[in-house]
Amino acid sequence: MSNYHIKHLEEYFQVYRKSVQNPEAFWEEIAEEHFVWRSKWDRVLSWDFTKPEIKWFEGAELNITENCLDRHLPTKRNTTAIIFEPNDPKEEAQHITYGQLHESVCRMANVLKDNGIKKGDRVCVYLPMIPELAYTVLACARVGAIHSVVFAGFSSNALATRINDCDCKMVITSDGSYRGNKTIDLKGIVDVALEDCPGVEKVLVAQRTGGKVKMKKNRDLWLKPLLDNAYADSDAERMKAEDPLFVLYTSGSTGKPKGMVHTCGGYMVYTAYTFKNIFQYRDGDVYWCTADIGWITGHSYIIYGPLANGATTVMFEGVPSYPDYGRFWEVVEKHKVNQFYTAPTAIRALAKENLEHVEKYDLSSLKVLGSVGEPINEEAWHWYNNNIGRGKSPIVDTWWQTETGGIMISPIPYVTPTTPTYATLPFIGIQPALMDEEGHEIMGIQVDGRLCIKFPWPSIARTIWGDHDRYRDTYFTAYKNKYFTGDGALRDEVGYYRITGRVDDVIIVSGHNLGTAPIEDAINEHPAVAESAIVGFPHDIKGNALYGFVILKEIGEARVKDNLRKEINQQITEHIGPIAKLDKIQFVSGLPKTRSGKIMRRILRKIASKDTENLGDISTLLNPEVVKEVMDNAL
Ligand code: PRX
Repeated sequence: MSNYHIKHLEEYFQVYRKSVQNPEAFWEEIAEEHFVWRSKWDRVLSWDFTKPEIKWFEGAELNITENCLDRHLPTKRNTTAIIFEPNDPKEEAQHITYGQLHESVCRMANVLKDNGIKKGDRVCVYLPMIPELAYTVLACARVGAIHSVVFAGFSSNALATRINDCDCKMVITSDGSYRGNKTIDLKGIVDVALEDCPGVEKVLVAQRTGGKVKMKKNRDLWLKPLLDNAYADSDAERMKAEDPLFVLYTSGSTGKPKGMVHTCGGYMVYTAYTFKNIFQYRDGDVYWCTADIGWITGHSYIIYGPLANGATTVMFEGVPSYPDYGRFWEVVEKHKVNQFYTAPTAIRALAKENLEHVEKYDLSSLKVLGSVGEPINEEAWHWYNNNIGRGKSPIVDTWWQTETGGIMISPIPYVTPTTPTYATLPFIGIQPALMDEEGHEIMGIQVDGRLCIKFPWPSIARTIWGDHDRYRDTYFTAYKNKYFTGDGALRDEVGYYRITGRVDDVIIVSGHNLGTAPIEDAINEHPAVAESAIVGFPHDIKGNALYGFVILKEIGEARVKDNLRKEINQQITEHIGPIAKLDKIQFVSGLPKTRSGKIMRRILRKIASKDTENLGDISTLLNPEVVKEVMDNAL
């Protein structure tokens, strides 16, 4: 029996048991039989969660792009690897074959090398969802450079922080980007960012919008002529399994963003294996994940997982609402998409629109529907199931994180019976535990607690770039010998898991992870602001929206306050990006604090959510009078 492709529930249980009873033997078999390695490992796994140090396939050598590209050439040279669907439906889609993708990646790899990039260098990728983004990511992997993709909706400030944190030598961007009916001046954003990034030597600029850009002499180069002149073949660098493949930033509850480091071997094995099973991908299928490659979902399940399986993966440049709310379904019909993977926030937004936008299209190609990024509420689940899946395509509610590299808890479609809002069972090799606040594991069923993972899996992030102590403190100190996810979960009577949400100060807005601290820092830089606190409150499309409580240095008039609200959001847009803007801003004279000076966010969350009947224990509150004022004036 091959354990690579699971087809029945019984088989899942059998393979799962094997994967936890003897993880080394299990993963060794998967790695050996389904991937190409330049040399084999000396040891499958060594790990110590206290240091923490985790190594998979130590001693092995490989290049992930040989697994994603070269090995498919004999059988799939003319098979489509990537379907590029542009923002504007009038522009023709591109079908990029494995042969063409290989060539473009090789050219790009040569361009990187010609411009001074060597193994181990960091390259920042700040591109829209155009084919060059895929070429660049894979070309970095081919030459052994560490890519750091920054979502092209982040501001120059956020971009600069990320470039400097991992010392990128090069930035790859485009003149501009299209998003619905908007055009964004990406190169202009990069130029501002680079005023604060002395380490960047070269900027390569892809052409997309034809917008006017300034090219800085000796630093900026147009990409197209370089690619045209580059040699179309390039040997892949020999990488150690534990060499870094990429850095990807994610928000923490405090401090600057964390550059999660993923390594080559384990990441490849796990993303490929999960992709195959969780989407039940079969040769000839067309798979579409609507995420942006700037997030982990795009890394693992647009690029690496699908390509490692020789799949056809759709890359969509646009947004679900342009030119109208039927765009997703139009694309599904046009490319006969079989597996469709999106976020609950998109489902909720589309569910609000007229059903005609769905009914116009033939969705009969769909076999599997996926959800990721935040809990999917029951209503959205049913809408997705009834209208998009027509009750026939199972929904895989996939729980995972930037840090986990791949999907951790999820049904396997046509294998695991689904239940709305439940991510169901741990994937093969994943050993979850629910913990109480005192650090004990909660056993049994119908229980809830903090979600931890007891044993390493191949694609766990290995460190935070430049700050291993923070890695240990964030994930491995709360619970001894366990990886702490930051999420709460419950386990029902059949052992299914339901993720209940973050238990820390990270807020998930429209599926984006936002830490409260960086937003508060941005607001506090406004000259009129003395202090602020951000909390989340339920929002029917975004899942959560942000509510800011702001203390001004001087109390002004209402008119001035309205301007201030705009300025505060502008400040946030400049420091982080528009995704972190506040929906509500309440000016207050004080914030509820404990005697030790800590803001009691629990109370603010209740006020923001209009759930003030029972504020819970307020005996440690220093200033109860403030609570009444804040409650009376809540928005
Ligand atoms: O809170 C969980 C939520 O998203 C967090 C991870 O965010 P990020 O690192 O940006 O990765 C998102 C894409 C993998 C988790 O800690 N989350 C993700 N998927 C789900 C989810 N919450 C509930 N259900 C999910 N399916």
